[in-house]
Amino acid sequence: MINQVYRLVSPRQFEITYKDRSLQSDYVVVRPTYLSICAADQRYYTGTRGKEAMAKKLPMALIHEGIGKIVYDPLNEFKTGTPVVMVPNTPVEDDDVIAENYLRSSKFRSSGYDGFMQDYVFLKRDRFVTLPEDLDPHVSAFMELITIAMHCLVRFEAKAHVRRSNFGVWGDGNLGYITSLILKKRYPESKVMIFGKNQYKLEHFSFVDEAYQIDQIPEDLQIDHAFEAVGSKGSQYAINQIIDYLHPEGTISLMGVSEYPIEINTRMILEKGITVIGSSRSGRADFENTVEFMKEHPEFVEYLGTLVGEVQVVRTIQDINDAFEKDLTSSWGKTVIEWKI
Ligand SMILES: NC(=O)c1ccc[n+]([C@@H]2O[C@H](COP(=O)([O-])OP(=O)(O)OC[C@H]3O[C@@H](n4cnc5c(N)ncnc54)[C@H](OP(=O)(O)O)[C@@H]3O)[C@@H](O)[C@H]2O)c1
Repeated sequence: MINQVYRLVSPRQFEITYKDRSLQSDYVVVRPTYLSICAADQRYYTGTRGKEAMAKKLPMALIHEGIGKIVYDPLNEFKTGTPVVMVPNTPVEDDDVIAENYLRSSKFRSSGYDGFMQDYVFLKRDRFVTLPEDLDPHVSAFMELITIAMHCLVRFEAKAHVRRSNFGVWGDGNLGYITSLILKKRYPESKVMIFGKNQYKLEHFSFVDEAYQIDQIPEDLQIDHAFEAVGSKGSQYAINQIIDYLHPEGTISLMGVSEYPIEINTRMILEKGITVIGSSRSGRADFENTVEFMKEHPEFVEYLGTLVGEVQVVRTIQDINDAFEKDLTSSWGKTVIEWKI
């Protein structure tokens, strides 16, 4: 069959590529239904990834957050129409110690490898997880971002000491919201505090115990463990502030991506015996955990509804551009694409 792939060829310009794919293969064919735009996609769309990365990675189909429906399974294991969440990480080797998302050989969709903006996505059997029929599709569209926070939590639990009476989350955006929400559900008895820059964004965090603007934090406040979901240059300020407010022997889980190296106060990391845990992307197990968590906690899914921003129906290439442009002007939440092309 001929599959249409919608690739970014240069900043703000998409083109259709036609790819011949055989159905006589091991791949399960999925029709994408709802997708969501991530900051990383925007960096390609606007060309802010820098000339070298753009030249190396384009042309490429964007988007690594999305759900779809199975349209063809050569082994007939899954019924046509089964809803699934697609796993963007694609490992090519196994390792007993290193997780699939940290293997340097793994391919990641929409990062040098075609993402989900295609008529059909051909997936290996372990690259999707089935979803309950009644799960909110607008929230499920950005489930991959939820798995990032879930993965970070799993790493935190494996590495941090056991005193977990309070947590601080830096970053009043999407990832900060999801991380605080997961922490509050996982540790209902612990205090979860959010630290952000924008009062109007902090007001969305109705479920946390305390919310602080970063220039109004009480001096005597101390936290057991911290999560950073800021990224860019702002993460330098956030990480150094975390180091100041963290109890000795606490952990800092880093999730924010910065294009350029940042300066952090290593002297106080040493003096306080702080453990810094880097966390990037996620793997199949995190998708399974997330789907289970969403099934067990319907109110978690309801709270995540707050993050659904613009919902854009995409039928044409122009609609794709419109979705990315609208996303650029939105100040809160995730842009969801209803994929009808
Ligand atoms: N590790 C991973 O696998 C992974 C996966 C997905 C995303 N990420 C990264 O995670 C970061 C957050 O993503 P997101 O979608 O949540 O982005 P976002 O919506 O832009 O959230 C970042 C928020 O942090 C606020 N902020 C800026 N400086 C701050 C500071 N010093 N202290 C506290 N808050 C501060 C920003 O406010 P202003 O907008 O006013 O500056 C913004 O509201 C990004 O760097 C993204 O690339 C990482």
